[in-house]
Amino acid sequence: MRLAPQPSAQPLRLLVLLLLTVGGITSPVLTPGCPDRCVCDDQLVVQCAGQHLTTFPVNLPLSTRQLIISNNRIVELPPLALNYLSDLVYLDCSNNSLTEISESTFGNLRKLAYLDLSFNTLVRIEDRTFGPLASLVMLRMTDNPALSEIHQDAFVDNAALQVLDVSRNNLTVVNITSLIALPALRSVGLSGNPWSCECENEDLCLWVHLEDFKFQDYEKYSFLLD
Ligand SMILES: *[C@@H]1O[C@H](CO)[C@@H](O)[C@H](O)[C@H]1NC(C)=O
Ligand SMILES: *[C@@H]1O[C@H](CO)[C@@H](O)[C@H](O)[C@H]1NC(C)=O
Ligand SMILES: *[C@@H]1O[C@H](CO)[C@@H](O)[C@H](O)[C@H]1NC(C)=O
Repeated sequence: MRLAPQPSAQPLRLLVLLLLTVGGITSPVLTPGCPDRCVCDDQLVVQCAGQHLTTFPVNLPLSTRQLIISNNRIVELPPLALNYLSDLVYLDCSNNSLTEISESTFGNLRKLAYLDLSFNTLVRIEDRTFGPLASLVMLRMTDNPALSEIHQDAFVDNAALQVLDVSRNNLTVVNITSLIALPALRSVGLSGNPWSCECENEDLCLWVHLEDFKFQDYEKYSFLLD
């Protein structure tokens, strides 16, 4: 299926078509694109799941709002290609072979509300990686067996974040103070990590082990713990 042209793009499209027709060139260059092995619909959803892709799809419609590239073997999210998609709201990259995410990867995705990075091979998350994602509501980042480090300021700019799931990684510490500071956060998944319970990690251990531990605003939180 092809992506239908947006009504607002019609006058320009007709003009360009006219010019190219006059110039003797036929129109395939004007057809809105859809990447190989993906399905694009007129709701601006691009579905590329389970297509044995090893690289990020090229020729994505710039107006894409939902991009599903799960269940492939994609090794990298190229910042340049991704940041053209400034209307992206939903991005599912789960079950791929992503090992690192650069600090510029999500630089222009200010409307992104849902991000799934689960079932990859991420090792660490730097402090600026999620910074530009001002609209991010839900972040799933589970089942990355080597993910052992998330920078303490990784989520500091994600004021809209409501659900964070970092279950089943290789985390030993997480900065609880910076999580509690997130104004919209209501659910955190922490289970299945080798949490270290030493003094500097005391808050976390209270969260993980003490059922009767009370926060001032305890009602705000639900804990997805073992
Ligand atoms: C990951 O994707 C592969 C290939 O499509 C599939 O066989 C496997 O079941 C998927 N694993 C998960 C956890 O979804
Ligand atoms: C998990 O982290 C420990 C160090 O904390 C490391 O020795 C181990 O290799 C890591 N596991 C994986 C699967 O990377
Ligand atoms: C947690 O992060 C905050 C803000 O970056 C920092 O001030 C604090 O020292 C950190 N706490 C621990 C236990 O690392």
